[in-house]
Amino acid sequence: MPKLTIDGKEIEVADGLNLIKAADQAGIEIPHYCYHPGLSVPGNCRMCLVEVEKAPKLQIACNTKVAEGMVVHTKSERTKIAQKAVLEFLLINHPIDCPVCDQAGECKLQDYYMDYDEQPSRFPLGKKNKKGKALDIGSGVLLDQERCIVCGRCTRFFDEITKTSELAIFQRGDQCQISHWPDRPVDNRYATNVVDICPVGALTEKEFRFRMRVWYLHRTPSVCGGCERGCSIDIYQNRGRIYRFKPRQNPEVNSYWMCDEGRHSFPSLQSESRLTTPLYQDKDRLVAETWSDAMRRAATRITELGKQYGANAIGAVIGAQATNEEAFALKNLIKDTIGSDKLATLSWSPPGASGDDDLLIRANKNPNTRGLAALGLPTDGLDALSNAVASGELKMLIAMRADLVKPLGEAEFIRRFGALDYLLVLDTDANEIGQMANQLWPIGAYPEIDGSFTNFKGRVQKIVSAFPPPGQALSAIEAIARLGHALDGLERPKDAAAVFSAMAQQEPAFAAMALEALGPHGKDLAQP
Ligand code: SF4
Ligand code: SF4
Ligand code: FES
Repeated sequence: MPKLTIDGKEIEVADGLNLIKAADQAGIEIPHYCYHPGLSVPGNCRMCLVEVEKAPKLQIACNTKVAEGMVVHTKSERTKIAQKAVLEFLLINHPIDCPVCDQAGECKLQDYYMDYDEQPSRFPLGKKNKKGKALDIGSGVLLDQERCIVCGRCTRFFDEITKTSELAIFQRGDQCQISHWPDRPVDNRYATNVVDICPVGALTEKEFRFRMRVWYLHRTPSVCGGCERGCSIDIYQNRGRIYRFKPRQNPEVNSYWMCDEGRHSFPSLQSESRLTTPLYQDKDRLVAETWSDAMRRAATRITELGKQYGANAIGAVIGAQATNEEAFALKNLIKDTIGSDKLATLSWSPPGASGDDDLLIRANKNPNTRGLAALGLPTDGLDALSNAVASGELKMLIAMRADLVKPLGEAEFIRRFGALDYLLVLDTDANEIGQMANQLWPIGAYPEIDGSFTNFKGRVQKIVSAFPPPGQALSAIEAIARLGHALDGLERPKDAAAVFSAMAQQEPAFAAMALEALGPHGKDLAQP
């Protein structure tokens, strides 16, 4: 652990760190463009020049490792002159696009100009080089060559991470420009990550461009529900409307990246088909009712069927889109409150969905298959449930985030489950199983609720509600707690942290964990 001094502050940091990271740990910013911690270090932008005592010239902080006794100055006169010179050089041919640039508000040229430069341009406006504007380079990415500072982050991403190498730097000197190879546009499933890492407004995303100024967006840390990898993400929303997902760094799960499929999955979470009020079936029509009527109706049915046919007349199927807490709460309701052992899970992925690759994407499009297994729920178990329907043992099914019509098809679903007396569906959208339900309860989608998912490697990660569910929709754990209360008059925890702590006491796989203590990177399930 070398000790060094940066701007008069003595710090001790891990061996092998570069000066940008070491300074960051001391709360000191060293401006940089080409350096990105997830990529190789080319040292080409020179924005990170700092003064290191005893070194004859200024050094680039991105490629200078810490050493015992090193003394570094990031705000000395020599450093400041270098920073101004580099910015003036980078801005010589930069267009005056800020008022119409979608990067405004998160552009490192704007930010560093204000923090390290603030000098008027000495270059005549009319003499600036003209290059390509808003070029569609493929995979939903637009390129503005005039705004590019040729830092090479995008080319390195495609060379080193996706290994598809679609982009390169062409020409020399002030004619340098980023472009794709002739007739070979960008075409890979991780392309939009270059928009995230481009430090300026040269690469923007077609889908997001001009939809919302970034300073109106609120950021909430969460987890992508698009597959069992569970990439750490940030949800950006304004007044309950999601505008973008961006990857959040997690060395245990997704490094700095996410796939485009997961990134663009949010419109399906906010579609016109969202349910906003509890419904019940009345003469083949779904009719709205209050939550208290809905609870009374379901509890009466459960009690009647239990008395007439025994506790095993009531069962549940839990989809692997459910959080750990939701699955735990419904499992407890079925097993402990009702006394039934009729439980199954559904972990279904649409046919034709993308398969496993060697970066992040997983063929299993459910975020919590491993979590349901860790709770001891049967993997699948649908055959056992439909056999119990056929034998007349199972009369009522509660389906939570489990549209059985999708994997089975309507005819097969009716053949296997059509003899049920009662179907209670808890879901976010008016889906196919919901159309056949006796009761249909609206619950929050994952950006709207607190809880946790367990990814396929056993990493338990926290999700945080970015905004409340629409209309009268409830979090599923609250709906289950209210149903439990309607059955036995007992109060149950309605928030995810309290359900998680009950789960940690009862379930060995979650022993000694707490929702808040999962931190930004999550924790591994307890080893058996
Ligand atoms: S397009 Fe962006 S990331 Fe790529 S070289 Fe230019 S400034 Fe860097
Ligand atoms: S790899 Fe899976 S979890 Fe990660 S962003 Fe893509 S869909 Fe989401
Ligand atoms: S960040 Fe060090 S040279 Fe670019």
